[in-house]
Amino acid sequence: MPTFIQLSDLHLPEPGALLYGLDPFARLDAAIADILARHGPGSACPVDFAVLSGDLADRGDPAAYRALAVRLARLPFPSHLMVGNHDDRGALLAAFPATKSIAGGFIQDAFQTDAGRVILLDTLCPGAAHGELCAGRLAWLDTELSRSSGPVLLFMHHPPVAIGIASIDRLRLADAAALLGVLGPYKARVRHIFCGHVHRPVFGQWHGMNFSAVRGLGHQLALDFTATSNFPGCLEPPCYALVRASEAELVVHLHDFLDRSATFNL
Ligand SMILES: [Fe+2]
Ligand SMILES: [Fe+2]
Repeated sequence: MPTFIQLSDLHLPEPGALLYGLDPFARLDAAIADILARHGPGSACPVDFAVLSGDLADRGDPAAYRALAVRLARLPFPSHLMVGNHDDRGALLAAFPATKSIAGGFIQDAFQTDAGRVILLDTLCPGAAHGELCAGRLAWLDTELSRSSGPVLLFMHHPPVAIGIASIDRLRLADAAALLGVLGPYKARVRHIFCGHVHRPVFGQWHGMNFSAVRGLGHQLALDFTATSNFPGCLEPPCYALVRASEAELVVHLHDFLDRSATFNL
């Protein structure tokens, strides 16, 4: 059964710097150590690949991407990189020259798994915090969907969904209606939409398609529905998603990898 990890919103600063009092590289090291211990080759649940769903660097710093490359080299499976609003495409591609991009320089990719076609979308609008999918990116998606068949696992940094916290909802995917127009004929094939950006564990549906979002590796967004203009930050524990998928089933586990509470037989 194809099994993969979703890591999101690493917000890596220049190496050595802290962000909101946290060391994002230490968080990344801890996540990688946990993944290797639980999901390495020969484990009970080995992983086939990872997707890093955007906001990899906090300010698009080239040194942050280079330091990320050193860390990801420890993983015995491929990592697929996506951009978020905090990222810089050029700096990312300089550190990860094998990353695929499409016409216009957008970092989009698709690959086949036994659970379906994985499609990674680029929702970055440089200089803005909200997400966009321009005509070129949507046309690429339309072509990708039309020439493939079977289930689709769609990844995009910015969710098309409003989660109810006004400040972050204003920064969701701006052209969600256009995306829905492209996905419309293929909705029955879309098994799941994996998002980042909101720094919260959220599951639900968008026009009948299942979606989820995960916490970041560092700072999080508090569950504060009074936040209309401010972004209520908090230091809830980080997590990564462990996904097991087949053509018929898809299960998303959110794992708080820093939790050290005791385990025992129930
Ligand atoms: Fe983020
Ligand atoms: Fe973001």
